[in-house]
Amino acid sequence: MLFSCISTPIALQAMILLPLISLLFQHFTLTVTALPIQQLPLVPTYAFASVDFYSPLLGGGSMLDDAGDGFGEPLNVIISGLSSPQVLTEDGIINFAKAIGFSEECLGLHLGAPQSANLGDGNGWVNQTIELRQDYGNSEIGTCLETLIGGNHFRVFKQNGTDAQSNALFLAVSQEEDLEESHTIIPDGYNIGRDKLANLAVGTTHFDGITYSTTARNLTGLLAAGSVGVNHGIGTDGITTLLTVTIIDDCSS
Ligand SMILES: *[C@@H]1O[C@H](CO)[C@@H](O)[C@H](O)[C@H]1NC(C)=O
Ligand SMILES: *[C@@H]1O[C@H](CO)[C@@H](O)[C@H](O)[C@H]1NC(C)=O
Ligand SMILES: *[C@@H]1O[C@H](CO)[C@@H](O)[C@H](O)[C@H]1NC(C)=O
Repeated sequence: MLFSCISTPIALQAMILLPLISLLFQHFTLTVTALPIQQLPLVPTYAFASVDFYSPLLGGGSMLDDAGDGFGEPLNVIISGLSSPQVLTEDGIINFAKAIGFSEECLGLHLGAPQSANLGDGNGWVNQTIELRQDYGNSEIGTCLETLIGGNHFRVFKQNGTDAQSNALFLAVSQEEDLEESHTIIPDGYNIGRDKLANLAVGTTHFDGITYSTTARNLTGLLAAGSVGVNHGIGTDGITTLLTVTIIDDCSS
């Protein structure tokens, strides 16, 4: 009951009582699930307007951001619009980032120019909302270490323009060199950064009283494999990983 809001004795009671109660109600449960499908209330289709994300390519956008030098970084991870809404806010993504070993930039210092992305949602090219760095186990000052010795980092862009309001977060993830190498991306740094982030995210994670359950799915056909237009000329395998992040327990308030 490590991640539960309720105290251990109550949790223990619940562990014992719940199976008993569900045994008692098993007959009832079966009856409910056996209801003929036609008797379920009909829900108009617009109630299902929520989607994982809209392909930026359909709305004149790009899966490469604009790094300001004529090239772009791949948007290689998408946090699904079907994630818990709280995760898709700025505070929400920061807390989730902390749960998987990232944090805000060193002492709030912002290194380098922001990049922009066009997610085909009608907002055009919009600056990143936030940049998060690997925190080496300390969400207060760990990102200072990342700034010095390099590591994983990502920029966040939100698809919330009125043409494609999925609220999905598009992430440009990359593994960086140290400060001496001016924070360039390591060889294969886009694929490596993506896979490291996905590995940290998948499963159950928690930070500051909020517990997340995350699943991953790989998508192709959004990013072109190779290095055409890609910043630093570093090729990618063309995979975008879709993460769906669900809050399963919230003791934060
Ligand atoms: C994006 O960031 C750049 C650099 O900080 C700034 O000059 C520009 O005004 C920003 N653009 C928008 C639309 O906020
Ligand atoms: C979209 O998200 C950005 C960044 O969080 C925010 O500044 C903006 O107000 C949002 N726009 C809409 C239409 O919700
Ligand atoms: C996605 O693709 C990468 C690279 O091939 C792989 O390492 C990873 O396990 C894949 N993830 C999923 C969820 O299939």
